[in-house]
Amino acid sequence: MSVRVRTVEDLHWSERVTTGQDTSGRDAGLDGPTGSDDGVMPSRRGSWRLAEAGWLAAIVAAGIGMAIAMGGIETTRNDFFIPGTQPNGLQQRIQSVNSCAFCHGGYNEIHEPMTAWAASMMGQSARDPIFHAALAIANQDADFAGDYCLRCHVPGGWLGGRVALDPAGGQLNNIDMEGVSCNFCHRMVDPIYHPGESPAEDQAILAGVNPPATSPHSGSFVVDPYDRRRGPFDISYLDPHPWLQSPFHTSSRMCATCHDVSNPVYARAEDGSYVLTDLDERAPSNDKHTQFPVERTFSEWASSLFGQGPVEMNGRFGTNPSAVSSCQDCHMPKTTGTGCHPELGPIVRDNLGTHYFNGANTWVLRAVRSLYDDSTTYLSEASVNASIERARQMLAAASDLELTLAGPFINARVVNYSGHKLPTGYAEGRRVWVNVRFLDAQGNLVAERGAYDPATAVLTTADTKVYECDLGLDPAAAAASGKPEGVGFHFAINNKVFKDNRIPPMGFTNAAFEAVQALPVNYTYADGQYWDDTLYEVPAGAARAEVRVFHQTTTKEYIEFLRDANVTNNAGQIAYDQWVLHGKSEPTLMDFATIDLYPCLADVNVDGGVDGGDIEAFFLLWSQGSPAVDFNVDGGVDGMDVEAFFMLWEQGC
Ligand code: HEC
Ligand code: HEC
Ligand code: HEC
Ligand code: HEC
Ligand code: HEC
Repeated sequence: MSVRVRTVEDLHWSERVTTGQDTSGRDAGLDGPTGSDDGVMPSRRGSWRLAEAGWLAAIVAAGIGMAIAMGGIETTRNDFFIPGTQPNGLQQRIQSVNSCAFCHGGYNEIHEPMTAWAASMMGQSARDPIFHAALAIANQDADFAGDYCLRCHVPGGWLGGRVALDPAGGQLNNIDMEGVSCNFCHRMVDPIYHPGESPAEDQAILAGVNPPATSPHSGSFVVDPYDRRRGPFDISYLDPHPWLQSPFHTSSRMCATCHDVSNPVYARAEDGSYVLTDLDERAPSNDKHTQFPVERTFSEWASSLFGQGPVEMNGRFGTNPSAVSSCQDCHMPKTTGTGCHPELGPIVRDNLGTHYFNGANTWVLRAVRSLYDDSTTYLSEASVNASIERARQMLAAASDLELTLAGPFINARVVNYSGHKLPTGYAEGRRVWVNVRFLDAQGNLVAERGAYDPATAVLTTADTKVYECDLGLDPAAAAASGKPEGVGFHFAINNKVFKDNRIPPMGFTNAAFEAVQALPVNYTYADGQYWDDTLYEVPAGAARAEVRVFHQTTTKEYIEFLRDANVTNNAGQIAYDQWVLHGKSEPTLMDFATIDLYPCLADVNVDGGVDGGDIEAFFLLWSQGSPAVDFNVDGGVDGMDVEAFFMLWEQGC
């Protein structure tokens, strides 16, 4: 592969190619320029692969189906209206990532934005098969709900007006399929103008947004109509392309735009319930606190200790410095490196935000790779493996497990060290649970709590603690939609939280969480409590307990729902098949700890007393050379252990 040496002249030349204003004066869509290619990155033009075309064909069919009432709520685009930049509101369209890869990819898989972004869920948000499956159900349950979903999951296509005509996404082009892309994020404008901090250009942009997007949630984004790339630094020393220094991009408020999700179709009533608003009308208020809370990750964070300033986490999130506050601190851990291809002459920065964006998803990237060609997704076996490994590390860093003996019980305390609830965000199908294995002195299984069968993906829930958020329909919403009342996965029309026992973050108070509609439901946490305790009764014969905490991205119950409730297209079946193909969303181990249930070591037969039976049991194990009777802990079993055992035995323990 030949690497041409770039010069600053090249930068300006390249920019003319990639960011020239569209002659049409508005979003040019599919035929717009896709950027330069110099052989450093393989050509990505014409990467319209079979899988992608196949999916688009399927959703075009679904879009046609939308004209027929599907038995859901007869909402319109008005019901899902969210303030901010509206479709066809850009002077220059959202650019393909192709036009960034030239300088921001292909040099360092750790800190270049390109490889890591592509291998993140936001890089594949438009291709995620679970999303496609959920989108189909949303459109079945509420007409035009898809317009709302695609706004956050496929923002470029939504801004280009290609969703307005078809809320199933049938009009999307291959640049749209780049999901939450480089150019989209880096053109986001702080919806609230901060004099002296915000770029001066923002004032004029914001003045043109009507109604203003003052409550950052639900994809209420303002996007610069021109392609001026915003980021944390002053890059005037290279001035490679139009750019603006933007404090917004180092703030959690930027992430809030999409990581607080409210349903504008429901309004909060006096009694705290959420009632359907007038159909074909915009929401009476754009304030998120008046709408149904679907996800509250940002609000949970803002009400936590992390929202108040840096918290010393001693390197738990592998960032520099080790004290963390913002979403970026934990999800874009800082590293040392260059902000672009080293040949362009950039300075080395020690506060370079990586584009990891790892959260909890440990399998969907593999599904994306099975469904789409790598030349479309910019994924590789190595980048996906690395990303999934980082997600596992995120989950391991998220909590600690502390075990103690409490009379005839063991107490399993799960402590939340993440920046929000554990788990947070998307509620459907996500769960964390405690698994306990009681073992006898020989290490045989005596009893198990919270057992998970990897073959069937069935979790035994009745005998353990499962941390999750269950949404569903109240009687009024059930009547309006014709869907069953109670807990369910009809995401777009759910209007009641039935259960939320997810563990609060550090700094939790009930009052603050109530104010942001994130109070625990059917469960209580005291102010200041960022852990949860579960007692397990020790069964007879158990000498030791092994306790594990697991996280699962997509449950059997959810994936079967996505398959079975779909009467529109094959998106549910495709998602289901991928789930089976990739290990049924194998649970990820978050924590592991063991505890000896009878620290009375001389009680070798674990019957609660020290007597002749223990001598017998001791010599049996001793004759087998069992490490369980290495009483002097010297790594071997010999005569010294007999001596050590009898010393303890005589003392009665
Ligand atoms: C011709 C080369 C080139 C191309 C193409 C290019 N960039 Fe850049 N970009 C640079 C250089 C050089 C820097 C400065 C890096 C530094 O100083 O660390 C930079 C910096 C940035 C920054 C940081 C801005 C700041 O103020 O902190 C952002 C954001 C950015 N680029 C986004 C993009 C996006 C998005 C694309 C594609 C749509 C893109 N760039 C395409 C060369 C390029
Ligand atoms: C979800 C939004 C988002 C997406 C998508 C995104 N970025 Fe960024 N990017 C950020 C944020 C936020 C920062 C600042 C991080 C910080 O300093 O805390 C940043 C920083 C940067 C910087 C400054 C140097 C660095 O690495 O920190 C460059 C250059 C950049 N991004 C380019 C890109 C390119 C190229 C892509 C696509 C391959 C991309 N970004 C995708 C949000 C995004
Ligand atoms: C305000 C922005 C926003 C809107 C609107 C939105 N989402 Fe999302 N969605 C997100 C974010 C952010 C996540 C990631 C949260 C997480 O992982 O916890 C997400 C995650 C998901 C996931 C999980 C994907 C997986 O692989 O597990 C599905 C499915 C999904 N959304 C479907 C939908 C559907 C269907 C709609 C429309 C009814 C919708 N979303 C509307 C922001 C949004
Ligand atoms: C102190 C570090 C920390 C901070 C700050 C933080 N997070 Fe996280 N986040 C984590 C950890 C650890 C996980 C994995 C555990 C989990 O899923 O909750 C995670 C998971 C997530 C997930 C995936 C949830 C799921 O189950 O699908 C999303 C989405 C997310 N964070 C978004 C955010 C946003 C947005 C912010 C800022 C408002 C933020 N995080 C702030 C540490 C942090
Ligand atoms: C335009 C809307 C948008 C913005 C802005 C945005 N996100 Fe996301 N984010 C999403 C969507 C949509 C998903 C889910 C994609 C999927 O799972 O298919 C997501 C997923 C994630 C995940 C992965 C969750 C998982 O389940 O593993 C993390 C972590 C995350 N975002 C962090 C951030 C951070 C940090 C910021 C701010 C720098 C940010 N996001 C800004 C829309 C957005």
